Amino acid sequence: MAQPENEAFVFSPKLSQLSALATRYAKPEHSVTHGGHVRTIAAGHYTVTGLSRHVRLGEFVAHRSATGVHLGEVVRVEPDIAYICPIEPGEPIGIHDVVIRKGAFRIAPDDSWCGRTINALGDPIDNGPGMTPGHERRPISTTAPPSMTRRRVDQGFRTGVRAVDIFSPLCLGQRLGIFAGSGVGKSTLLSMLARADAFDKVVIALVGERGREVREFIEDTLGDNMAKSIAVVATSDESPMLRKMAPLTAMTIAEHFRDKGENVLFIADSITRFAHAIREVATAAGEPPIARGYPASVFTELPRLLERAGPGAEGAGTITAIISILVDGDNHNDPIADSVRGILDGHIVLDRSLADEGRYPPINPLTSISRLARKAWTGEQEKLVSRLKALIHRFEETRDLRLIGGYRNGSDPDLDMAIKQVPVIYEILKQSPGDKASNDAYADLAGALKAAASGAQGGARQRG
Ligand SMILES: Nc1ncnc2c1ncn2[C@@H]1O[C@H](COP(=O)(O)OP(=O)(O)OP(=O)(O)O)[C@@H](O)[C@H]1O
Ligand SMILES: [Mg+2]
Repeated sequence: MAQPENEAFVFSPKLSQLSALATRYAKPEHSVTHGGHVRTIAAGHYTVTGLSRHVRLGEFVAHRSATGVHLGEVVRVEPDIAYICPIEPGEPIGIHDVVIRKGAFRIAPDDSWCGRTINALGDPIDNGPGMTPGHERRPISTTAPPSMTRRRVDQGFRTGVRAVDIFSPLCLGQRLGIFAGSGVGKSTLLSMLARADAFDKVVIALVGERGREVREFIEDTLGDNMAKSIAVVATSDESPMLRKMAPLTAMTIAEHFRDKGENVLFIADSITRFAHAIREVATAAGEPPIARGYPASVFTELPRLLERAGPGAEGAGTITAIISILVDGDNHNDPIADSVRGILDGHIVLDRSLADEGRYPPINPLTSISRLARKAWTGEQEKLVSRLKALIHRFEETRDLRLIGGYRNGSDPDLDMAIKQVPVIYEILKQSPGDKASNDAYADLAGALKAAASGAQGGARQRG
């Protein structure tokens, strides 16, 4: 029989197992444990009576079933009923099962977590020993530091990827998105950027990836950097709740290191799959869709997560966030891409046509923008890049004309220059994960242009 709301569940000794779990999450002031009972069960969620007055949206509950204790998140609260999304798929839930409140989900990151791979709940998945908890337990769902207390972002750093360092240079504490359709090269570029040596720590959230790619990313990509990295993984077959929590857990770990004064790189691959997970959870909770099937909560959760990246207060370090965004059917204006672009301090656009030509990383230098590039460039570099972009633009807009033989060399000095230099620029921008990181992208470019010019002069002298 359903428990009336005002007869809150009375805590009994047989629930000692649940209680022990609950103390891991609840604050000391929550010494009174509130409980309720399962009332209805549906695909993706169940409802509980007796908890509505005691729980808040986003809090966790523990549910005891025949197979043990399972966690769930409160996704909707009505006067007599709380809607819960279970964390684990396929958890056996029975009518009238006992459910107790656990409060906000917290993790206690520790320096010893470096080099480890964990799941969204903070438990190890790398066959290593249990995780040692740190001193501070932090809620994974929290707000960003107040904007006026944060340091300004003005210190550039080198990524080692020439196409980024020349055309869209980045600053510590910047938030950058890599936008592309499927299979164009997002994960590969992220893995190359993860090796930048400007960071003390790298925290990676792999959300909705294929299981095969996870080991590849962690072992091949991080390599020597693994000692200063922590990976939080929720693969595509895990529940939407775990996929939704993985970036939050990763960001909480990044905040731990930032607050110690370190410069942290936060990587999320992909943020679109995080948005899909929020959509799945919200749909199960009955939230109506507002844009292409996405409910409003997606558009509040995305900035909530991304705003947490950035510089910390004076004395704290920075979180530089680089995230990938899968654009639906190569449509760069889908609601998630649009919403995320507005939150970020820059976006790198990968073009399928460049990938088809084998020009990896397929970064389009004309449509990619770093809004903080001016702080990273010298005045001279800024002028040079604007000149390079003009040449590339001229080269691309006359491509068809030149292909049909509609241009005669010598008629336009700017175009002649573009025809000579742009293929050299394209060549120097090519880089694979196996190639050495560039120590000075401008020097590499200058060297290539000089070599091409002297080669051309030599050829002209020989012909003469
Ligand atoms: N810099 C590069 N050098 C050489 N090959 C590359 C490079 N980047 C990507 N590729 C090729 O493109 C393929 C797809 O790349 P990747 O897995 O990074 O794409 P993705 O955009 O992350 O795909 P998905 O949308 O499926 O996650 C790789 O398997 C590789 O063959
Ligand atoms: Mg990928």
